[in-house]
Amino acid sequence: MTSDPTQDYNAWEYNVKWEKHGHQLLFELLNEPNDFKFPPGKFFLEMGSDRGEGSTKVLAELANKLELTFITVDMNPELCQNALKIVQAINPKFSAECDRGEDFIANFFGDGDIAVLYLDAYDTMPVGADLPSDIKEPYIKNMGKWSNEEAWNMHLKCSEIADKKLMPGGLICFDDMWRQGGMYGHWAMRSKGFMAVPWLLSQEYEEIKYVDGCVVLRKPQV
Ligand SMILES: C[S@@+](CC[C@H](N)C(=O)[O-])C[C@H]1O[C@@H](n2cnc3c(N)ncnc32)[C@H](O)[C@@H]1O
Repeated sequence: MTSDPTQDYNAWEYNVKWEKHGHQLLFELLNEPNDFKFPPGKFFLEMGSDRGEGSTKVLAELANKLELTFITVDMNPELCQNALKIVQAINPKFSAECDRGEDFIANFFGDGDIAVLYLDAYDTMPVGADLPSDIKEPYIKNMGKWSNEEAWNMHLKCSEIADKKLMPGGLICFDDMWRQGGMYGHWAMRSKGFMAVPWLLSQEYEEIKYVDGCVVLRKPQV
């Protein structure tokens, strides 16, 4: 192991612990009686539709229970078609949209419309590593390229746009998120919110829950 693991992506293999996915954490936080108050009719938005982990079904069922309107968004048309079947079986009013998440948030929602935002979109990898080819192929086909920098910027851009669209007290959850020594960055640079989470914290968002692999933040009440 090098003394600076940012220089050695293999360090990720033996340093990063993984406890759970963000959709599992959101389910744990919101499925049981809790202190979060979301007016019925607000939106529950998933960015990055199901690709085999079951997130879309879990979150759509949770949104149904919370009386929130669920939308899942993905830039990959094949995943959108599959996601549409999943969500419509739960509630015919729920939808799956094929779009770039940052554009969809900007164009679809008014200020304060979103109660819960789950960000599990543009894939990241340990610095220096490449995406497995089957996961990379849709990026090349639909976006022309893939890079960690694009992923960090995409999640930052989504967060900056979503800041206004989230209701006061609304939640934003990042998957694939790690911190080290209290920092959301440094060598754990695989993290999707490597740039977004520090920005949100600088905007007075409160960290509700962190476990290795994901984090939930809450927008200030006023
Ligand atoms: C990690 S997967 C989502 C996994 C899913 N939440 C699950 O648990 O099964 C990330 C997804 O984000 C999508 N994606 C990447 N960049 C995107 C963007 N700019 N807008 C919308 N979706 C994007 C990819 O197509 C991919 O399907």
